[in-house]
Amino acid sequence: MARKLVAANWKMNGSVSGNAELAARVVEGVASLASEVVLCVPFPYLVQVGSLLEHSRIGLGAQDLSEHEAGAYTGEVSAAMLKDVGCSHVVVGHSERRKYHGESDAVVLAKVRRAQAAGLVPIVCVGESREQREAGDTERVVLGQLEAVFGGLDDAAARRLVLAYEPIWAIGTGLAATPEMAQAVHASIRGALRARVGDEADDLPLLYGGSVNADNAQALFAMPDIDGALVGGASLDAEAFVSICIAVSGR
Ligand code: 13P
Repeated sequence: MARKLVAANWKMNGSVSGNAELAARVVEGVASLASEVVLCVPFPYLVQVGSLLEHSRIGLGAQDLSEHEAGAYTGEVSAAMLKDVGCSHVVVGHSERRKYHGESDAVVLAKVRRAQAAGLVPIVCVGESREQREAGDTERVVLGQLEAVFGGLDDAAARRLVLAYEPIWAIGTGLAATPEMAQAVHASIRGALRARVGDEADDLPLLYGGSVNADNAQALFAMPDIDGALVGGASLDAEAFVSICIAVSGR
C-alpha cells in the first residue's frame, strides 16, 4: 500500500504570530497519527515554522525553488538553501507558478532535478484547466506534464517523487473533483508510474489537491489510488487540517 501523506500549502498566507498558533495546534493534533504530514510555508517563515516543528513528526516544505544552483539570480531561493534551513520537501510546478510565472514543463523538470540533487523530495503538481477537461483532454494534459518530468529523470530519481493531481478548476473554488473523477485520473497516473518504475509505483503517494476540506477528505481517501492530499485553504484552519490528516490515517 502506498505511503500516506498530507501536505499543507499555505500559499501566500501567514504571519509570525498566526503561524505560531497554527503550527502548535497542528503539531498537537497529528502527534499520534501514522501518516506523513508536511507544512509548505512561505520562504520568510521557513526558519520560524521549522523551529516550531522541531521534535514533532511533521516535515517542513517550501512552495517553490530556483531552477539555478546559486549565484546572480536576485530574489531566487536555491535548493541548497531550503535544505540548509531544514526543508524535507518542496512543491514544484504548482499551477499558480505555471500560470502566473510562466513555468514551462522544462523549468519544472529543472527544478525537480535541483530539488533532488539537494536531497529534497519534490511534490510535483499536474492538472488540467476547465477548458481542457471540457475538451476531453484531461488525460493527455496530465500524462504529458508527467512525461515531461519522467523523461528527464533516471529510474531511481523517478522513484523519489511525490505526485499531486490538482485540477486547476478545483483549486480555491470550493468545487472539488468528485472522488470518482479524481480516482480516474489517479489510476492513469499510477499506470504511467508503474510503466516507469514497476511495482514500486504502488508505494509512492499520489496526492489529490483542489478544495479538499474536512467534509470531503474521507470520501476522496476511500479511493484506491488517492493516498493523500495537497491542501490549500483548509490548511490555514488547524481543526480542518487535522481532520484531513486523521481521515487519511484512518483509511
Ligand atoms: P485549495 O485547497 O485552496 O483548493 O488549494 C489547493 C492547492 O492549490 C494546494 O496546492
